[in-house]
Amino acid sequence: FFFGGSYTHTMPLLSHRQEEERRTVFVGRCPDAITDNDLLTHWASLGPDAIKKISWAEKDGNFKGFGFVLFNSPSLAEKASLFEPPTIAGRQILVSYKKSGTSNTPKRSAHELLNTMVKRRENMRNSQQKVALGETLAPKEWKPEDLKAAPFRKDFTVLLNYQENRKKFEYKRFFRNNAMKITEDDVKPILGWHEIKFDKDVMKVLTEQFENPTPIQSVAWPIILSGRDCIGLAKTGSGKTLAFVLPAITHLKAQARVEVKSGPIALILTPTRELTIQIVAELDKLKIAAAIRVGVAHGGHDGGANKHFQAAQIIKGCDVIVATPGRLIDFAEAGVVTFTRVTYLVLDEADQML
Ligand SMILES: Nc1ncnc2c1ncn2[C@@H]1O[C@H](COP(=O)(O)OP(=O)(O)OP(=O)(O)O)[C@@H](O)[C@H]1O
Ligand SMILES: [Mg+2]
Repeated sequence: FFFGGSYTHTMPLLSHRQEEERRTVFVGRCPDAITDNDLLTHWASLGPDAIKKISWAEKDGNFKGFGFVLFNSPSLAEKASLFEPPTIAGRQILVSYKKSGTSNTPKRSAHELLNTMVKRRENMRNSQQKVALGETLAPKEWKPEDLKAAPFRKDFTVLLNYQENRKKFEYKRFFRNNAMKITEDDVKPILGWHEIKFDKDVMKVLTEQFENPTPIQSVAWPIILSGRDCIGLAKTGSGKTLAFVLPAITHLKAQARVEVKSGPIALILTPTRELTIQIVAELDKLKIAAAIRVGVAHGGHDGGANKHFQAAQIIKGCDVIVATPGRLIDFAEAGVVTFTRVTYLVLDEADQML
């Protein structure tokens, strides 16, 4: 990458670089229309000299959608990161700040793992003809005793709180009114927020935003919360993301905590980087209320797609990972991610991945 801007400096001392990282705030998902002035205005209340320099990422003269804001002190940078990120040209941008700087151990070990993987693939390529993606992975044989040794919980029917005395015809009417076809005849949809008890803080976020569950949510939640598999088809914008995201949160919070390098509990696969970003955005709305750690793995060339950054996040330990298959296989081959703890799997837009 080439970072635009007038500021140049020669190789700094490590301590100086670390100090600078603590004064730097990352801004991502930026529209092309963004200007220095947007950010200066946004953070104007921090004082006229708070910002030392703004640099934007460019490649071949094209804006890459992210940049860095250097503040005059670490505490100003931290304060700036606590502002609600600004909405510019209709899009809320991403603002991210790491107190300890980015030169931490997971990042270093991410580098090592990824470099080792690249070397291993090269060696294989040199010695054999061609190596397909994923070919350096050893297959995992699951034995019944392995599964017994790693118990997990998948029945959350206690969270369903059906209103008493509902008649069969009410369900029939619900399916008819929403033009729904259900292949099993024992499915009881929930008919309002009062019939389900997700985590209290999550419920608050939901009920503040949405009047009712959407039809596919009403049906999918009872099925998934009872631990059954579910295939859902519904038109665009019908709320399918939360249909699988909310039971995912319930599921993963009920399992033993994920530690460093122990991989996610919920894995959400999507066919495209755009879809991955959309799902992460839905998760982000609930991330704080649900206190979960979200990892992401997709290709591309903006800040959020930085391979080493994504790998470092995953190594630290994530409860859920949203990923496209290619990047995920890279990470699996590098040993950045394992799937031994995955007990909740989503294939979003599965038809696109077959
Ligand atoms: N219960 C609800 N009530 C109202 N809006 C909701 C509800 N649940 C989700 N939404 C909102 O509806 C929008 C579309 O949802 P979502 O992206 O999940 O659609 P989708 O079914 O996955 O569509 P697509 O097939 O295009 O991917 C989102 O902005 C989401 O926040
Ligand atoms: Mg969708």
